[in-house]
Amino acid sequence: KILILDFGSQYTQLIARRVRELGVYCELHPWDMSDDDIRAFAPKGVILSGGPESVTEANSPRAPQAVWDLQVPVLGICYGMQTMAVQLGGAVAPGTVKEFGYAEIRARGHSQLLRDIEDRVNDEGHGLLDVWMSHGDHVSGLPDGFKLIASTKDVPIAGIADESRRYYALQFHPEVTHTTQGARIYSRFVHEICGCGDAWKPGNIINDAIATVREQVGEAKALLGLSGGVDSSVVAALLHKAIGEQLTCVFVDHGLLRHHEGDQVMKIFAEHLGVKVIRVDAEARFLDALKGVDDPEAKRKIIGRLFVEVFDEEAGKLEGIDFLAQGTIYPDVIESAGSKTKKAHVIKSHHNVGGLPEHMKLKLVEPLRELFKDEVRRIGVELGLPREMVYRHPFPGPGLGVRILGEVSKAAADTLRQADHIFIEELRRAGWYDKTSQAFAVFLPVRSVGVTGDGRRYEPVIALRAVQTIDFMTAQWAHLPYELLDVCSRRIVNEVPGVSRVVYDVSGKPPATIEWE
Ligand code: XMP
Repeated sequence: KILILDFGSQYTQLIARRVRELGVYCELHPWDMSDDDIRAFAPKGVILSGGPESVTEANSPRAPQAVWDLQVPVLGICYGMQTMAVQLGGAVAPGTVKEFGYAEIRARGHSQLLRDIEDRVNDEGHGLLDVWMSHGDHVSGLPDGFKLIASTKDVPIAGIADESRRYYALQFHPEVTHTTQGARIYSRFVHEICGCGDAWKPGNIINDAIATVREQVGEAKALLGLSGGVDSSVVAALLHKAIGEQLTCVFVDHGLLRHHEGDQVMKIFAEHLGVKVIRVDAEARFLDALKGVDDPEAKRKIIGRLFVEVFDEEAGKLEGIDFLAQGTIYPDVIESAGSKTKKAHVIKSHHNVGGLPEHMKLKLVEPLRELFKDEVRRIGVELGLPREMVYRHPFPGPGLGVRILGEVSKAAADTLRQADHIFIEELRRAGWYDKTSQAFAVFLPVRSVGVTGDGRRYEPVIALRAVQTIDFMTAQWAHLPYELLDVCSRRIVNEVPGVSRVVYDVSGKPPATIEWE
């Protein structure tokens, strides 16, 4: 396994995902991980990530001494390269300008890391690679024992290596897809230089997880709040495989789910997979509690509180439960851990999963704690969940409650469900569903005038929104083809009673958020 020390770069999680895609297990820890913890982790290699700080500043982060004492290969990326350089006796110069974007690097001499990895070869026989740069400082003097292995026009020292100690460092970011040979560079490091195998694959991940869960849970019973979202669905399928009848799922249907969503969840889990699922039809309770409330945050609070309440009531009826299963995934774990220097993270308040019922004294079982979202999806497919479910766009916990602007009503929810279903169906048909990160319809409580036949209509408006994003922190509106929007608009107005007009949202985030409320 590989240890990645995080110096705070926005690309650190990407490094971990790249390494795992290569079939190698790795963990991401803050740069100030203790020497004891590093020794206990016993990595076969260490990767030092990039970071926003400058090694030329006093008190800037350094790699712990244990990294150098372990005598395993080390790869420094960007800031990781700079801290490696200064810690081992080289020099770093502050950048006057920040370099950001594509660069062409030239692989110099032979290095085990970059040998024969190239996009092109120049006249002198040097390999050339297209890479992604993002840095201010650069290494200006080689530490003892190091040689130059890469350079660019602007950065004479863009890669260094000490082959005898197996220390390598790169100024560019091989984890970013713009660096076309990035996967080969990481493979060279983890497979050949560190000697890791490639056993971290969906089948093995599942077998490992099953063994761990069986050991943890034994003969005891576990409870899971199933929401129909990717994470809880995969936990359900996995736990069912591991402990079968000892698992009970509670699925709270708050009446603000998408078209036929509740039935589909039951069909897949209860009928198809044979999982024990208790469906709680709480639509009336939720709608009742939401009556007269139009403030978005107030609606969120009500839905969240009631969700936990209903879940707890149901859980309380069950006997002999010892474990509460949760769909916590690795990014949640990383975010809540953090390092001393890490800037405050904005953590979304999730309530898809019920709160831990205190009086039940449940222990947690979290079989996805070590997995990234893409790994969760892959094992979901391997476990037999339908692709459409596993690769579905994210859906907020409060559901249609925040997509019906203002006061929520059953009539509005029914209208919105139909319109949303048509939009999604057409997106899929046109091959655009997988090209967008999130797409949905919004119910606007304003009425607009329309005509159909000889009738005048004065009815609510449906807005369509589709965005493309990597991290949901920023997003672009999707440039859907006019023909596709046209089909959606016609179908919605013709097939959904009580809608006279359809509009498309062309706002990016920022300034707009993805949801309308
Ligand atoms: P915004 O609207 O903040 O959305 O740009 C970013 C992502 O978060 C989702 N979202 C929520 N998810 N409960 C959730 O579980 C919420 O209250 C909530 N509000 C927004 C949103 O769908 C998008 O994926």
